[in-house]
Amino acid sequence: MEVIETRVQLRSWRGKIHGSVGFIPTMGALHEGHLSLVRRSLAENPWTIVSIFVNPRQFGPQEDYHRYPRTLETDLRLLQNLGVSAAFTPSVEEMYSPEDEVYVSLTRLGRLWCGSYRLGHFDGVALVLIKLFNLIMPTRAYFGEKDFQQVRVVEKLVEELFFPIEIVRVPTVREPDGLAMSSRNTYLSPSGRAQALALYKVLQYIQTLVPTTQLTADLIREGEAFLRERFPEVKLEYLAIVDEYSLQPIEHLRQSSNPRILIAAYVEGVRLIDNLPLSLPEESS
Ligand code: PAJ
Repeated sequence: MEVIETRVQLRSWRGKIHGSVGFIPTMGALHEGHLSLVRRSLAENPWTIVSIFVNPRQFGPQEDYHRYPRTLETDLRLLQNLGVSAAFTPSVEEMYSPEDEVYVSLTRLGRLWCGSYRLGHFDGVALVLIKLFNLIMPTRAYFGEKDFQQVRVVEKLVEELFFPIEIVRVPTVREPDGLAMSSRNTYLSPSGRAQALALYKVLQYIQTLVPTTQLTADLIREGEAFLRERFPEVKLEYLAIVDEYSLQPIEHLRQSSNPRILIAAYVEGVRLIDNLPLSLPEESS
């Protein structure tokens, strides 16, 4: 596996290879969730490149940029063992300059949900991905459904900016008890870890109510009550039922062919997110 640190080296690597290139952008601290994206790319492309870059532009001033877990040595070993072709591990200076002029601004999808609480977050994600896509010129890029809004933002970005890149969605990888894997789970104490299960539990609980009611206001109210009673230490940021294409809230599940619940909550001050597609009972004729 080639470990590439500069844009110049990357261009030269890219210039030498032929055939489809699968790209997995990450911020490192790799876990099975990331590795499932890598495996999918390895199965679908002769070349797979993973970037590891904690992107300062997508963190707010009060967020965890400085304490975000950095485990480069272990990450590179994992990727090497899987048979990845190259890892791109640029410094911040390699990706940004203090004289930069270009900012990207998302107006709709990027300002909903997480975007409304983490101002500028998706603008920063979009900017770094545009830079990475331009450098790597992948055939396919792989994104996890764990960050569902991010996937939709990236799909829209690629569509609007005419990137000739296929965006591949990969299902969320969970711990055996259902907790969605996340680099941020490492911040949690054992009791916080137990509380964190609230996110998946409430998504599942809402799914069990669907045969009885399909009014989303009822489902959300029941879900919030479930959290208050069973997981009082969890601080809910939002719980929403949306159409998975527009990410707009719906009033009745039948209003969307693909309804999805989105949740963000704080556990021990750690911000966690999760989501689940809702399946509806067959309509009786
Ligand atoms: P990061 O949080 O490191 O995630 C990298 C990729 O791994 C994303 O596509 C994310 O959705 C996916 N992923 C994380 N946990 C997952 C899980 N449990 N199951 C499946 N996929 C999972 O997302 C980012 O980095 C950044 O915003 C980035 C796109 C790299 C831009 O900086």
